[in-house]
Amino acid sequence: MDSIVVTGGGELRGEIPIAGAKNACLALMPATLLSEEPLTLTNAPRLSDIKTMTTLLQSLGAEAASLQDGQVLAMSSHDLTSTRADYDIVRKMRASNLVLGPLIARHGHAEVSLPGGCAIGARPMDLHIFGLEKLGAEIDLRDGYLHAKAPNGLKGAEIPLTFASVGATENIVMAATLAKGTTVLTNAAREPEIVDLVQCLRAMGAQIEGEGTSRIEIQGVDRLHGATHAVVADRIELGTYMLAPAIAGGEVECLGGRLDLVGAFVEKLDAAGIAVEETARGLRVSRKNGRIRAVDVTTEPFPGFPTDLQAQMMAMLCTAEGTSELNETIFENRFMHAPELTRMGARIEVHGGKARVTGVNKLRGAPVMATDLRASVSLILAGLAAEGETVVSRVYHLDRGYEHVVRKLRGVGAQVERVKA
Ligand code: EPZ
Repeated sequence: MDSIVVTGGGELRGEIPIAGAKNACLALMPATLLSEEPLTLTNAPRLSDIKTMTTLLQSLGAEAASLQDGQVLAMSSHDLTSTRADYDIVRKMRASNLVLGPLIARHGHAEVSLPGGCAIGARPMDLHIFGLEKLGAEIDLRDGYLHAKAPNGLKGAEIPLTFASVGATENIVMAATLAKGTTVLTNAAREPEIVDLVQCLRAMGAQIEGEGTSRIEIQGVDRLHGATHAVVADRIELGTYMLAPAIAGGEVECLGGRLDLVGAFVEKLDAAGIAVEETARGLRVSRKNGRIRAVDVTTEPFPGFPTDLQAQMMAMLCTAEGTSELNETIFENRFMHAPELTRMGARIEVHGGKARVTGVNKLRGAPVMATDLRASVSLILAGLAAEGETVVSRVYHLDRGYEHVVRKLRGVGAQVERVKA
């Protein structure tokens, strides 16, 4: 297993290009199952999760080709040979469960493995099942698989979600595009990835209104046609790289970054003493003056502070002046980066969903272990300003969500290298 070696050093200067959003692309790709015509995605990120989704679609008999060094995904699902998403794929990547809604809607049946838990939490699918059953699907859980069928098609319904689940919103919206009649989804997730998915579905002929709000209304249509869609910029990659100059000092321009994608996050950066400026090409980030100030953070569904940036924010707060309280409300076990940061000299007390970080002057490099995707990059960020060398092991987690992370950080002067195992 490869490691990434970070040597703490000077300020960072230059530009980092932001790729297409992993979590948008993983919802957009299953949309190809809704139509017999080709769906082409541009600005796709080059990530192992995208390869996993490509493999899953191919296992169903869909065509899914990665072109132009992975930046274009050409897909079509004219004739499927299977509607079964196997456990060995789904357990590796939970987002595989996003084939469930499209398969039921267009093919009338699906067998999708429950993903099982992952490092950050139990990851149940009760809200997905609730919404799809409201649309008329019959879903049984047997031998670890959801066996779903809708022999007479789906019917529009009122679906009040008890939690603004991103994945459940995506599965329900995709299924409802081909249901007979009107579906009204309330307490829907408002993430930019939902907005991006709806814009793609609309380009395919779907009739949907309200994306980005808590109420999404879908008028079912008989069929969807093909489309070409550009994947929205990745707000989590963006926020991650915005923290690099915040932690190491200097000034970095994140190309393709959009302020509307990271509103709540930028508010916290501003309070911590980090300057964010909109430019013609993206967002320029620098430290205003002197030391970072401690801030309190509570993760919430969009437009609140994103849970996927909590670990990275903690890395910055480890050397802030004062004590910060981080409250993780989305996942039940998302502080696994804390003990690793402690190995670097951070002062962090974790009690359930809360972490208290008392700033120290400087972290010290150390061997640390990546435990999940966002934790792994928070350790690299912490290493940028630590004294000495930080060796992050198990970086396969990183490859799931960050393309060319070493190249992008070296491009702004960071001393980072990947060491083959
Ligand atoms: C998406 O996961 C993202 N993944 C996650 O990003 C992100 O952290 C999460 O949304 C929250 O923003 C993708 O888009 C592929 P949820 P998802 O359904 O859809 C509970 C990353 O690092 N819940 O909004 O699985 C669930 O247990 C990943 O890129 C139920 O209880 O998130 C969790 O506590 C990590 N029942 C909370 O809701 C359900 O049926 C949020 O889950 C579904 C979810």
